[in-house]
Amino acid sequence: MKRLRLGVNIDHVATIRNARGGLHPDPVRAAAIATEAGADGVTAHLREDRRHITDGDIDRLMAELTLPLNLEMAATMEMLDIALVHRPHAACIVPERREERTTEGGLDAAGQHNSLTPFVGRLREAGIRVSLFVAPDRRQMEAAARLGVPVVELHTGPYAHDAGERELDRLRDAAEYGAGLGLEIHAGHGLTFDNVGLVAAIPQLAELNIGHFIIGEAVFIGLGPAVRAMRAAMDAGRPVTG
Ligand code: PXP
Repeated sequence: MKRLRLGVNIDHVATIRNARGGLHPDPVRAAAIATEAGADGVTAHLREDRRHITDGDIDRLMAELTLPLNLEMAATMEMLDIALVHRPHAACIVPERREERTTEGGLDAAGQHNSLTPFVGRLREAGIRVSLFVAPDRRQMEAAARLGVPVVELHTGPYAHDAGERELDRLRDAAEYGAGLGLEIHAGHGLTFDNVGLVAAIPQLAELNIGHFIIGEAVFIGLGPAVRAMRAAMDAGRPVTG
């Protein structure tokens, strides 16, 4: 199987920084350490309420980061303008309001087809690789394919909550079905050293985006070692053959 990419989400470094309103700890420094530790990309979510990552963080990430930046954002005009100014490598569209979500918590790509179509089109015209963060559900895979996005990111939150076979099967089925429709398949949310292996083993997956657990673990063992340990846990779940 091909090597799975690891995107490190640095949002919660900013959460800790913002708890005191100062400059420390700096999420851009965290991105540099993750880069050195072997991450393949960096993910940051600029939320509408700026509760963690700020506009200034995105400016600095675009200027200083040597890895591809995956900008997570809501499908709003404000975020579209920001993405078009910065032109990150990738933009992952995520739901922020309750009414944008499916029952499983991902973006309702099927229900929001009409509003997402021009939005996705503008990002794609700017050369930004668009992904949709969706539930592992065939209907959402079909909706993503209809919208013409190259990537979907499967929401692993429900799997991470109960680590049961049922949720794992939903991820496996959606990954196989989505890949069959020509989509590149990513996954993320709630992944830990213990639960990442079974997800990494899903052969159609190309990338995992992992934040909270890595940043939390960094408190105990340091950020570089936490990134390397997550990499090792992914590799243990997916032996690389070529
Ligand atoms: N992928 C997406 C689209 C997300 O919104 C998040 C959480 O911000 C993650 C991945 C990472 O989730 P976690 O922080 O639980 O690892």
